[in-house]
Amino acid sequence: MRHTLAAVPIAAALVALSLPAAVVGGCAVPLEERFAGRPELAHGDGRLYLQKCGRCHEPFPVARFSDAQWSRQVLAMRADANLSPDQERRIVGYLQAHNRP
Ligand code: HEC
Repeated sequence: MRHTLAAVPIAAALVALSLPAAVVGGCAVPLEERFAGRPELAHGDGRLYLQKCGRCHEPFPVARFSDAQWSRQVLAMRADANLSPDQERRIVGYLQAHNRP
């Protein structure tokens, strides 16, 4: 019985530890390689956008949304992407600065 009881917290910890890895590691090819055709996402705040917002779905083309729409979208995704206030500000700034030719 002792063994069974001890195994429960260990199993729970293992599941908790493996979950983020499963989400992040779901794709074998690193983000930088998958989106190598979009060099604007290779550095600076573009890179932050790729890393924070390209994990679960493609990093949507910056031109797709207006300034106001990007504010709302990033707000809506802020918790999913686990953004600090500074990261949120940088990503919104990046998107709004590049969404028009
Ligand atoms: C943990 C996974 C995850 C992360 C990280 C994430 N998203 Fe999303 N996103 C989703 C899911 C799931 C949907 C679709 C369902 C929904 O709208 O909630 C979505 C939908 C969207 C949409 C709507 C697309 C459309 O055509 O209407 C936009 C825009 C978007 N995300 C932008 C972002 C941005 C910007 C970030 C980074 C700040 C981000 N996402 C980070 C999971 C994620």
